[in-house]
Amino acid sequence: MNQIDSPFGRFNLLPLHHHPKSPQQAWSAADDLLLKEIAKAEPVPERVLIVNDLHGALGTCLHHWRPFSWNDSYSSKLALQQNLRRNQLSFSADHFLESTDIPDGQFDAVLIRIPKTLSLLEYQLTALRPLLTPQTRIIGAGMVKHLSKSMVQCFERCLGHTTTSLAVRKARLIHTQFDPELKPAAPQPVRYDIPGTGLELLNYANVFSQQKLDMGTRFLLEHFPPVDGLEHILDLGCGNGALACYAGRKNPAAMLSLLDDSWLALKSARESLELNGLKNPCEFIASDGLDGFEDQVDLILCNPPFHEGNRLDSNIAMRMFKGSKRCLKENGKLVVVGNRHLNYHQSLKPHFKDVDLTASNPKFVILTASRPR
Ligand SMILES: C[S@@+](CC[C@H](N)C(=O)[O-])C[C@H]1O[C@@H](n2cnc3c(N)ncnc32)[C@H](O)[C@@H]1O
Repeated sequence: MNQIDSPFGRFNLLPLHHHPKSPQQAWSAADDLLLKEIAKAEPVPERVLIVNDLHGALGTCLHHWRPFSWNDSYSSKLALQQNLRRNQLSFSADHFLESTDIPDGQFDAVLIRIPKTLSLLEYQLTALRPLLTPQTRIIGAGMVKHLSKSMVQCFERCLGHTTTSLAVRKARLIHTQFDPELKPAAPQPVRYDIPGTGLELLNYANVFSQQKLDMGTRFLLEHFPPVDGLEHILDLGCGNGALACYAGRKNPAAMLSLLDDSWLALKSARESLELNGLKNPCEFIASDGLDGFEDQVDLILCNPPFHEGNRLDSNIAMRMFKGSKRCLKENGKLVVVGNRHLNYHQSLKPHFKDVDLTASNPKFVILTASRPR
């Protein structure tokens, strides 16, 4: 379960938050297929770029090639570090690139795990062009159920002629021949208004609520907690910073901490605050929940994620609730919006003495948790 037998050897791999009760594997049939394919490459590629390595499985198995890793997820970076350590291999910081930095130089092979969103794929493929030559081996891999026709077309449109392999254990490879003559337009950030507020948001690729405000976020803005006089407000899983923008406009003196797993989300949030002329003191932190956050704040606003990659995952929200009790001042509050069926009330109760229903509609609830246990 935890050992991958790859063409490059056997490695122990675990997801970042391994849970013995709901064990999950740190690699998929798509990673297996990709590794088998690149093992056949002749000559062996000298400069390799791995894109979207969710749990660091590819980076660990290919460590001897000193690959570069490019990713939009801070948790994936932590998973890679942890899996390398687990196999007594070293992490080299200058071979890890955040999504908002563009890798440098040319690559002999680019291995792309298909991301969840088409917008991220398009952003990555257009940004990759200067790093490719017609000799670069470009191989995408994904599980068939996540690999839409529009994703395959995205390879064709952004890079060049593309074919797909037969499915093996429900995974498929994408092979692309780089065409230097193509001139695909690089995707631009999306801008939209928050109706009725005079606020505008800016979204780079991959950021939640890509084209319009999420209904849950909107519901929370309609039932926003009082923020007058608060010194420090935290937007946990900030996305494009909708909640922080609203809080910052209502209380221009409050310090705002914006935390997210995605570097593109943090960039969107920073630029959304600037776009609205907000001058609050701010910090933007790439984070896995609240791990490593040391301050104590007056208010935490949270519309929790319920996916990890393509997988439904309620554990992230649970970790966020647990972390929140440590990061609140004595009279601090955590305000959560979520789909009614997720039953966050039950998940908050073990951590807070008071969990109140602040508002509800047929789809969403807003819960206010206080008095950490
Ligand atoms: C449901 S969205 C909410 C975004 C924004 N607050 C809003 O209301 O529009 C959840 C956010 O949590 C982020 N996220 C996912 N996993 C995370 C983690 N482990 N730590 C911090 N943020 C995470 C996602 O990138 C996403 O931006």
